[in-house]
Amino acid sequence: MKKILVATEKPFAKAAVEGIRKIIVDAGFEMALLENYVQKSEFLAASSDADAIIIRSDIVDSEVFEAAKKLKIVVRAGAGYDNIDLVGATAHGVVAMNTPGQNSNAVAELAIGMMVFAARNNFNGSSGTELRGKKLGLHAFGYVSKAVAAIAQGFGMEVFAYDPFVDKKSIEADGVQYVDDVKDLYGKCQYVSLHLPANAQTKKSINFDLLSLMPKGATLVNTARKEVIDEEGLLKMFAERPDFKYVSDVEPDCKSFIAEKFTGRFFFSPKKMGAQTSEANNNAGLAAAHQILNFFTNGDKTFQVNK
Ligand code: 3PG
Repeated sequence: MKKILVATEKPFAKAAVEGIRKIIVDAGFEMALLENYVQKSEFLAASSDADAIIIRSDIVDSEVFEAAKKLKIVVRAGAGYDNIDLVGATAHGVVAMNTPGQNSNAVAELAIGMMVFAARNNFNGSSGTELRGKKLGLHAFGYVSKAVAAIAQGFGMEVFAYDPFVDKKSIEADGVQYVDDVKDLYGKCQYVSLHLPANAQTKKSINFDLLSLMPKGATLVNTARKEVIDEEGLLKMFAERPDFKYVSDVEPDCKSFIAEKFTGRFFFSPKKMGAQTSEANNNAGLAAAHQILNFFTNGDKTFQVNK
């Protein structure tokens, strides 16, 4: 009997776990659950007899591939797969997948929520500002950006997007204004929301040169990855631009410095919360389980990311 391990350092909602279990058991497979683990060794031990693994932001590297001798497929229940060593997966004959779009509404709602929080001065009782009429720049235009755009339009924001991999027509189809130069996006938008993946090209790409182009009242919103930020440039921006705010679902490494020097101009979730809704857990978790069953029963490799 095939064994599917659900390994989540940050657990799914209970209902999502039960939904995943039902899909797996109904298909005649076995499910193992490892939640809230602290040591990597716990993950390695649990992986040793798994044919498939469902993860979230859990790190799947060569140690895992070495330990999981029977592993055929790993599915990241979520969008970003920078936590999986794709080269290692391919070398070990493992198919890696994500579940694109399944948690995007949850992340989009958080991005907008953090914008409101910043605009209202962290709800500290002082007079803030409104989102209506402000310009929002979406840096990259995937599932989350589309959802952010739709909500922001409801708030009466003017929405722009830059994405070198998405054409003008597709961006405009969502009522969003196309920007073909990233500098123009930062140059015109008081709010910039980051939705780019973390990879060799994008790491540290959000730097002072880009941020300093933002107009007065600049707020950077990060529900993507901390690695895309050049933290030296971020600190320079905080120091040189008293109007600048940074709200992020991913704590920067320089968090304590910011907290000490730039009170009231930031928000950082203590633990990544973007996809942490029961709906998103359900959508992504159940999709992951279905993708694994389709892979084992029909050889379906839709959503494979290590091609
Ligand atoms: C994603 O890439 O899907 C999000 O960052 C969610 O990550 P999480 O599953 O660890 O909450």
